Amino acid sequence: MKTILKCQKDKFLLNRKTAYLNCAYMSPQMKKVENAGKKALRLKRQPDQVSGADFFKESDIARSLFSGLINNPTHNRVVSIPSVSYGMANVVNNLRISKGENVVVIGDQFPSNVYPWMTFCSEHGAKLITVSAPDTFKNRGEKWNESILDTINSSTVAVSLGHVHWVDGTLFDLVNIRKKCSEFGAALIIDGTQSVGAYPFDVEVIQPDALIVATYKWLFGPYSMGMAYYGERFDGGSPIEQSWINRLGSEDFSGLVNYQEQYHEGALRYEVGEHSNFMLKPMMNASMRQIGRWKVENIQSYCHALVAPYLEEISSLGLYIEKQSSRGAHLFGIKIPEDKMEKLQTTLKVNRVSVSIRGSFMRVAPHVYNDERDMNKLLRALKSAVE
Ligand SMILES: Cc1ncc(COP(=O)(O)O)c(C=O)c1O
Repeated sequence: MKTILKCQKDKFLLNRKTAYLNCAYMSPQMKKVENAGKKALRLKRQPDQVSGADFFKESDIARSLFSGLINNPTHNRVVSIPSVSYGMANVVNNLRISKGENVVVIGDQFPSNVYPWMTFCSEHGAKLITVSAPDTFKNRGEKWNESILDTINSSTVAVSLGHVHWVDGTLFDLVNIRKKCSEFGAALIIDGTQSVGAYPFDVEVIQPDALIVATYKWLFGPYSMGMAYYGERFDGGSPIEQSWINRLGSEDFSGLVNYQEQYHEGALRYEVGEHSNFMLKPMMNASMRQIGRWKVENIQSYCHALVAPYLEEISSLGLYIEKQSSRGAHLFGIKIPEDKMEKLQTTLKVNRVSVSIRGSFMRVAPHVYNDERDMNKLLRALKSAVE
């Protein structure tokens, strides 16, 4: 795979002595995002400079930038949310389930995409089915996907999962999962937090019923921000909160107490109250604009080109990594033997490598600010821990 991007470290303020291979934990801040934040902070010195139209402007820009990243032609299906749990709350609030029916999730899935389903199922006497990873490393990704497809049946109301697994990077076959869901009328709900912005996602191809994304990782936004896409299945639904700004005609501030039954069109009823967020939203938009310039497919191929030369050596240490075709290049887990874990934590510290330990995996999450120096530090830390 050819990469056309050069290393982008200069756009960031990272400590060059540390190999920051941890975007799945939290993205570092770009200089331009920090500047957008400083400018936004100063705005409130003179509130007379904030017009009525400004309450809508950056949210509309966010809608269009996010839509560009996921190839979504219908911008008013995209809303701002403060967290994945919030976006998921609007999902479960608008699905119906009965005793005997089920929801399918993946083993060791991130809790914000599990707790809402636990409550939803237990409140209605329905079943939450967890499809765990197979207990073999041979063709693990393919087998995992096969068992997901085998689990979806005529009693399935929703399947909710990520595009890649947040711990080990296993790629889920959303195209075929979509097909199977459609066969049985089940909703397909995606938590794109660990993929959107770094791994290509196409709304027109995958046709999710909802796509929920926190932005402080692969979208380089500030914390407490997220973007969500809601498809037609959620048209006309009930939002979990009733904000004035989501009602039809809210642009006319002088008429706000002419209470209005109707919402803005599309999915805008699901947008969080005070979504104008004058300080954080310009930062988020600055980062999404940059990702659009880099292009998601180029980010993925940059990560692939950076990591590929090291894979053989890591495997030769006897460590398991899912094969490239079944995982993302921007996020992958290296399985660490239990008796090496403690030593690894030390060698990572000594070599100044930032990655995340999640269960028995060391999660590596590179981006365009990483270079060979960072990968060499990682390899050194791994070798001193296991050799
Ligand atoms: C897959 C995934 N989803 C969601 C989140 C964050 O969820 P929330 O926005 O509800 O805090 C994370 C954070 O690590 C995550 O990895």
